[in-house]
Amino acid sequence: MQYPSQVTIIEVGPRDGLQNEAQFVPTHSKLAFIQKLWEAGFTEMEITSFVSPKWVPQMLDAKDVMEKTKDRKGAIVLAPNKKGIDAALSAGAKAVAVFIGVSETFNKKNINKTTEDAMSELIPVIDDLKSRGIYVRACISTAFHCPYEGKISPTAALALCHQFAEAGVDELSVADTIGKATPKESFALFSLLKKQLPAILVTAHFHDTRKMALANIYAAMLAGVDRFDSSAGGLGGCPFAPGASGNVATEDVIYMLHEMGIHTGIDLHLLVEAIEAVKPYVSREITSGYYTSKAGF
Ligand code: HMG
Ligand code: MG
Repeated sequence: MQYPSQVTIIEVGPRDGLQNEAQFVPTHSKLAFIQKLWEAGFTEMEITSFVSPKWVPQMLDAKDVMEKTKDRKGAIVLAPNKKGIDAALSAGAKAVAVFIGVSETFNKKNINKTTEDAMSELIPVIDDLKSRGIYVRACISTAFHCPYEGKISPTAALALCHQFAEAGVDELSVADTIGKATPKESFALFSLLKKQLPAILVTAHFHDTRKMALANIYAAMLAGVDRFDSSAGGLGGCPFAPGASGNVATEDVIYMLHEMGIHTGIDLHLLVEAIEAVKPYVSREITSGYYTSKAGF
């Protein structure tokens, strides 16, 4: 079986994990969560997003979170448009994640723009970011299925990935936004991506609505992917993707990889301490294998 001996986990709990929480998580608690996650060994983490506070009130403290984290290498912030990117840079961001869905309807619901308008705004901004030495990650939502348009064709997903690659991004994070993809679809799309875009970092981002995320990660590894987004405690979900549940739980991904002899650099027990620190502030019940298994690890 061909899978990597080392995998990078990009922790998205402070951003994807918390963005859907109705109750505001105090900034100091977000910062404590982030600090404990760094201590667990993550080298890349989405810490917040510079989006409209009217659309996503949980992220209204993005500037404060960024300013307290800006010297940390590997801290990534999301931004949907030039306004958000400018605010992120002013707060000291060195790595920015832009996001667009393959689905036109999803983009209208999530960023209130057509795909074409969003790309027209972002492409020159990406060029500018690269000339300033900023790391750019492009998150490709609804790469497999859309809550509004149904099944997405791999051709459409690949076309958007190629547009971002030509624009000069460093990384593509390709997402199963509503957790509907199967290992067959994961293997097929990631095989094509790795073959067609060998010079770009390819990351897989699975939500776990139908409990297929671990199988999808395994299939993506067989396709050559060695970078995965996941969220501590399995928190998360996009507020504009109805029916989607949280991300795959980082603790379950780490357990699977370590038991397979795949190195991640993450200390599972320190990760659980980070989850314990944020647990009192979240409404979602944590249902990862670690939390539901009586045996623990
Ligand atoms: P809009 O209402 O069309 O924006 O929203 P607008 O340009 O007309 O501006 C309206 C107001 O928002 C103005 O303020 C702007 O200044 C302000 P007002 O004059 O009314 O006071 N504004 C902003 N404020 C802060 N930061 C900004 C910003 N831009 C404009 N960046 C907008 C358009 C894109 C802003 C809005 O739709 C938005 O914020 N959407 C974000 C949605 C979101 O965060 N979704 C979740 C993240 S994506 C995700 O989770 C998927 C992912 O995990 C992968 C996967 O699983 O698929 C990455
Ligand atoms: Mg997501």
